[in-house]
Amino acid sequence: MRDMTSDIVDARMIGSTPEAISRRDFIKGVVAGGVAVSSAGYLFRASTLLGQSGGERLITLNVNGQQRRADVRKQETLAWTLRHKLGLTGTKLGCDRAECGSCTVLIDDVPHYACSVLTHTVRGRRVLTIEGLAGADGKLHPMQQGVVDEQGFQCAFCMPGFIMASVGFLKTNPNPTRGQLAQGVSGNLCRCQDYDKILTALMRGAENMREADHV
Ligand code: FES
Ligand code: FES
Repeated sequence: MRDMTSDIVDARMIGSTPEAISRRDFIKGVVAGGVAVSSAGYLFRASTLLGQSGGERLITLNVNGQQRRADVRKQETLAWTLRHKLGLTGTKLGCDRAECGSCTVLIDDVPHYACSVLTHTVRGRRVLTIEGLAGADGKLHPMQQGVVDEQGFQCAFCMPGFIMASVGFLKTNPNPTRGQLAQGVSGNLCRCQDYDKILTALMRGAENMREADHV
């Protein structure tokens, strides 16, 4: 499992050694699994740490099509379990209180804030995270490819949440106008306020999905 230090080290590589890692490589890394992103949002609050340790119970979850077992506390959030028990750090924690959408995952195909869902309530349901979008052969999901094509994010911390929210929205609205898609992902915030480029990338992803007949 990656930690904050390694994320920051990766982020510092951007720009300092252009031959080592390009912006396109960086974007690909984030759309594929949410890696190589740094943010103050990673700083764990002491209260959160204390509140999510001890008194655990072993449960099985369906995550990205796999049966995953984890020791989980009664009051533990799905975001915490994904990141700290299952190593799926592509799901970001920004506000940790249902305001920013950084932690968005699909539960039975519907977008949810993973920071505000108790893990034990998703037993028997299908959880999909950013790590589960790409094909088994590593081929990016059409929405991920749209983001790569348009280079639609700045720091990209919010990117996994936006991608999951838009994929969920497009399952019921596959051919939205720009305004409708903006409305569909309006539960997600970008600290860099790069909304116009983000929307262009998401619209490109939606187009890719339609062309690939991908739902
Ligand atoms: S971290 Fe879940 S909504 Fe902000
Ligand atoms: S938070 Fe930086 S691109 Fe959205």
